[in-house]
Amino acid sequence: MSFPVRKFDAVIVGAGGSGLRASLQLAEAGYNVAVLSKVFPTRSHTVAAQGGVGAALGNMGEDSWHWHMYDTVKGSDWLGDQDAIEFMCREAPKSILELEHFGMPFDRNEDGTVYQRPFGGHMQNFGAGPAVQRSCCAADRTGHAMLHTLYQRNVRANANFFVEWMALDLIRDDSGQVVGVTAMEMESGDVFIFHAKAVLFATGGAGRVYASSTNAFINTGDGLGIVSRAGIPLEDMEFWQFHPTGVSGAGVLITEGVRGEGGYLLNKDGERFMERYAPNAKDLASRDVVARAMATEIKEGRGCGEGADHVLLKLDHLGEQLIDSKLPGIREIAKKFANVDPARDPIPVVPTCHYMMGGIPTNYRGEVVAPRGSDMEAVVPGLYAAGECACASVHGANRLGTNSLTDLLVFGKSAGNSTIEFLKENKSHKELPSDAGELTRARLNRLNNQTGGESVSEVGAALRDTMQRTCGVFRFPDLLESGVREIKEVEQRVARTEIKDKSKVFNTARVEALELDNLIEVAVASLVSAEARKESRGAHDRADFAERDDVNWLKHSLWFKEGSKLDYKAVHMEPLTVETIAPKVRTY
Ligand code: FUM
Repeated sequence: MSFPVRKFDAVIVGAGGSGLRASLQLAEAGYNVAVLSKVFPTRSHTVAAQGGVGAALGNMGEDSWHWHMYDTVKGSDWLGDQDAIEFMCREAPKSILELEHFGMPFDRNEDGTVYQRPFGGHMQNFGAGPAVQRSCCAADRTGHAMLHTLYQRNVRANANFFVEWMALDLIRDDSGQVVGVTAMEMESGDVFIFHAKAVLFATGGAGRVYASSTNAFINTGDGLGIVSRAGIPLEDMEFWQFHPTGVSGAGVLITEGVRGEGGYLLNKDGERFMERYAPNAKDLASRDVVARAMATEIKEGRGCGEGADHVLLKLDHLGEQLIDSKLPGIREIAKKFANVDPARDPIPVVPTCHYMMGGIPTNYRGEVVAPRGSDMEAVVPGLYAAGECACASVHGANRLGTNSLTDLLVFGKSAGNSTIEFLKENKSHKELPSDAGELTRARLNRLNNQTGGESVSEVGAALRDTMQRTCGVFRFPDLLESGVREIKEVEQRVARTEIKDKSKVFNTARVEALELDNLIEVAVASLVSAEARKESRGAHDRADFAERDDVNWLKHSLWFKEGSKLDYKAVHMEPLTVETIAPKVRTY
């Protein structure tokens, strides 16, 4: 027996910044759009974004989209696609103006323009420096303000929200066209088919593959698991960003905006050590550079505290007035999670998993692309992705702070527009295949019938432990090899997990088991891709291949679930209208 069917023009999975920006585009154009979300939209993980959104408005001094593009290509360690990066940096200022007109409560300058703060890796004059003020912010709660603004606008446009619904599997017809998804209403445990002309994934990150993460518990890589089970590869999964300043022991994010406003890092000798690692940009060097410098200080015995296991972030010299106006959330977090008042004492911090540079392969229009025959980037009809779950690829091997919010605004809108173009050409629903929903039924049946299996939490802990030990800030060949072996063993264990509670109504045990099916695809893809890439680039830092190797490795990885195989495709070195930014040594 098949699942009940609901019909929409388009289904968007995920209601964070990119999902809401895409659904707004569709709903305002009059389409019947369903937005599925595991949590209430304003509780999506975008709410945790603190320091701001990057756009070359030039409100605080000279800036240009071309400088922003240069910084982003350099930040990506030249793995970013330059057409997509040009598109994002050119569109960014328009996205901010749009948000402003939607009612976003940005911080303001005396003259009424949007206030912008400096952020790591954003420089004046094609990298020459000094730092540029490019991050548009609402104190240190920018994501919170953005989500509320976009959600209100969606309500006004009559988008249909399905809150506490979890998407489970993709439905493709014989031609490979995407015609819907299966999804579970968490309250009732009932499963439905959402029959659609187009599906857009905006499911966010998967930072919960690591034991220490700034990510919300909902960030379980659902979109990535779903597409990989449907035969679509995952791109550049070896590149994970560790944010330099997670609260030591808790992982909660302390915004880079603290360093943007003038805070800095100290080791146990009270030394401002970033001056040694990045003489020009210092504490505002790119994230991978700062995270590695901190890890080196700790590794070499210059860490602070009893365990010498963290460094200190000092900001008391900024004064209470600035802290309370520009960084009020940080003061609150530091008090709650580190037991220090940063207006008086420094915050203990460590690099913590923060962002996934890889994801579902797309072009800058938000269309999902996958190899077909000799075409490495054939468009998958009816399928779109935007935001952290997508790999456009603007962040390449390392993302600059603030570019995640820029990405989700620009590509959320772009993917929404591409979906509208597709809907204009595809006016009626294609038929559902006769086996629609069978994969979901098999997964649910296994969970319902499994006895004598391991608990989901034990297997999940093994997954996170493996990623944390073997695929961290620094990568070693023996650890990567054992990591691949271990994660494949964990994969076998995931297939045998058992839930004791088989009831239907709000069964969070079942939800967690289904999330683990997605986390394991992300973890296997990450370790297999990382072990294979024999160079150091951006956030992928190998002890045995210390240099970037453009001759052999200036290419994107593609991981396929079937057989856990890898393939590679070219980086787009041609921008849309300007000259290529040619690779060179990356220093700050
Ligand atoms: O540090 C932060 O506020 C985080 C920003 C980002 O990840 O872009």
